[in-house]
Amino acid sequence: MNGSMAKWACSVAEAELRESLPRRWMHSQGVARRAAELTELLGGDADLLASAAVLHDVGYAPRLAATGFHPLDGARFLRDDHAADERLVRLVANHSLALLEAEERGLRGDLEAEFPLLDDHRLVDALVYCDMTTTPDGNGTSAEGRLEEIMDRYGADSLVGRFIRRASSDILAAVGRVEAALAAQPR
Ligand SMILES: [Fe+2]
Repeated sequence: MNGSMAKWACSVAEAELRESLPRRWMHSQGVARRAAELTELLGGDADLLASAAVLHDVGYAPRLAATGFHPLDGARFLRDDHAADERLVRLVANHSLALLEAEERGLRGDLEAEFPLLDDHRLVDALVYCDMTTTPDGNGTSAEGRLEEIMDRYGADSLVGRFIRRASSDILAAVGRVEAALAAQPR
């Protein structure tokens, strides 16, 4: 991560996660490494993606967990405490199909009103790809493996399990689009 926003983002994420949630911090760093693999693909938006990648789960930090829905808590923190870049905040709020989980939690209206999904599907897909191909420990995995791991961890009948069942096909499609774009890149 070389961009100036990404350096700032990394220090904010580290301050919130490293001590309170060390495994979540490992995951966040792994997601940021994934983002670095997409630098060429994203050109001028690579710094924005790297920033969103390292901060996407910041809302899990116990002191920030006001609603308990981490995409919304994280986005509000970045907006209110840091006056962060609007596209960054909207990416964090909507990472990995968060709208569908918000719906399960009765928070879709709040999320959509405060943080509309970005129109730039390339960036939205890229963040899905980075998150969904990284294990909780920060290692690389397949999207199928990651979905299975989430389902095992939360249970099929849990709120997150229901969300993952609804979101799986969109998640796999987004990851597929990014993989196709990577494969089409000139080497
Ligand atoms: Fe997340």
